[in-house]
Amino acid sequence: MDELESDRAHGARIYDYILGGNDNFAVDRQAGEATLRAWPAMRVSMRANRAFMHRVGRFLAAERGVRQFLDIGAGIPTRPNLHEVVQEVAPEARIVYVDNDPIVLAHAQALLTGTPQGRTAYISADVREPDGILGARELHDTLDLDRPVGLLIIAMLQFIEDDEEALRVTRRVLDALPSGSYLAVTIATADFAPEPLGKVREQYNAHGETLRLRTKEQAARFFEGLELEEPGVVQTHRWRPDPADAGTIADADIAMYGAVGRKP
Ligand SMILES: C[S@@+](CC[C@H](N)C(=O)[O-])C[C@H]1O[C@@H](n2cnc3c(N)ncnc32)[C@H](O)[C@@H]1O
Repeated sequence: MDELESDRAHGARIYDYILGGNDNFAVDRQAGEATLRAWPAMRVSMRANRAFMHRVGRFLAAERGVRQFLDIGAGIPTRPNLHEVVQEVAPEARIVYVDNDPIVLAHAQALLTGTPQGRTAYISADVREPDGILGARELHDTLDLDRPVGLLIIAMLQFIEDDEEALRVTRRVLDALPSGSYLAVTIATADFAPEPLGKVREQYNAHGETLRLRTKEQAARFFEGLELEEPGVVQTHRWRPDPADAGTIADADIAMYGAVGRKP
């Protein structure tokens, strides 16, 4: 069997293609083009999602003193990756990446090239079976789970159709982390461009992938019991934007909510 399923488009590789990467196959490029035809702003939205991840990493490292990170649904390496962002602030930072796509595993070496003072590791696991992550030797060898961890789940939960399952697995991982840890997620939504996003979802469904689009209320449920950092649950481009970028992106071009919460 072709482990990479190069005859079938995959979310990780479509995302890579639309972001301008080279780690994708012809089927992914076709699906990416179809997605862009359905909604030309998809590239803007995906870039804003990635930029949100960079700002969150910098914020947690620089302003909240977080030195350990768990990035689930890490994706195909795209510089800067999370460890490059946070180790710029704190070279001793440690990062564990998780993804379940064999193509991400094939490129994982690029995620394991951090600073000599810090450390990075990769776990090939499916978040729907969180014990595979929580029991992994690489997790315990790399992170001290008695100290706060920044848990990032960025542009991944749309691939879990069932809301209760998405909430349960997120909560299960967060439960294993101590008080003072942070959760950062982005959640796909059709709230600002319902019609084109409906077409995008059809595209994903056509190649056998789910694309669950959630409302702001549904996105906020991931933060129940946590202390939300300002400005709360907002579209990714509105979460603590770099001053140079503020006001340059239209709301209608962004299909992601993002937020960061602290575990009390
Ligand atoms: C759209 S990419 C996002 C990559 C990166 N987090 C970012 O935002 O730039 C989503 C990633 O989630 C991964 N993924 C999807 N379902 C997953 C699951 N059940 N368990 C672990 N990873 C998953 C995919 O393989 C893909 O690499």
